[in-house]
Amino acid sequence: MNLSREILKSEAEIAERVGVLGREITGHYQGQEVSLLGVLKGSFIFMADLAREIKLPTQIGFLEIIVSRKSEFLTEIAFSSSFHIEGRHVLILEDILDTGVTLAYLMQQIQLFQPRSLRICTLLDKPHRRKVDLQPDHVGFQVPDRHVVGYGLDYQGQYRNLPYLGFVE
Ligand code: IMP
Ligand code: MG
Repeated sequence: MNLSREILKSEAEIAERVGVLGREITGHYQGQEVSLLGVLKGSFIFMADLAREIKLPTQIGFLEIIVSRKSEFLTEIAFSSSFHIEGRHVLILEDILDTGVTLAYLMQQIQLFQPRSLRICTLLDKPHRRKVDLQPDHVGFQVPDRHVVGYGLDYQGQYRNLPYLGFVE
């Protein structure tokens, strides 16, 4: 698989859309603090840009989902550092929502910590691939069923630092 010459979204298109998302989120949580929780590694660039477009007090944290090698059912969530969930308005930031299996699991686990509210913001959405009933609250772009890279997204660990969104083929 190599990087395609095709561009899905340019840097300018991403910046414009992230600005709109920031205003949407700022409006939704008006007058309150929002706790942004990024899913590593894919969300790191999205978090950096979106957080600066949210004009509210924020708490920022990251987590990583660790899939055990022994059994695909044994999964663990590792928080990058202290992050308070109980009683907070938590907004999960994802790079891409595909089947939804990962996020459904994550939502279930986070609910156990009793957030005041729990919502999802995903940069990209592949709605046709969904296997579970999960509706993101904020979506950057809907994308076709192809492997997307760049702006944090990888293919076998590569291409996360591309400034735009592209494809591998
Ligand atoms: P799912 O929604 O549980 O199927 O998994 C979503 C995760 O798979 C995302 O958080 C990504 O890490 C990864 N993923 C799915 N589609 C793509 C893609 O097109 N490019 C890069 N990563 C992807
Ligand atoms: Mg991911």
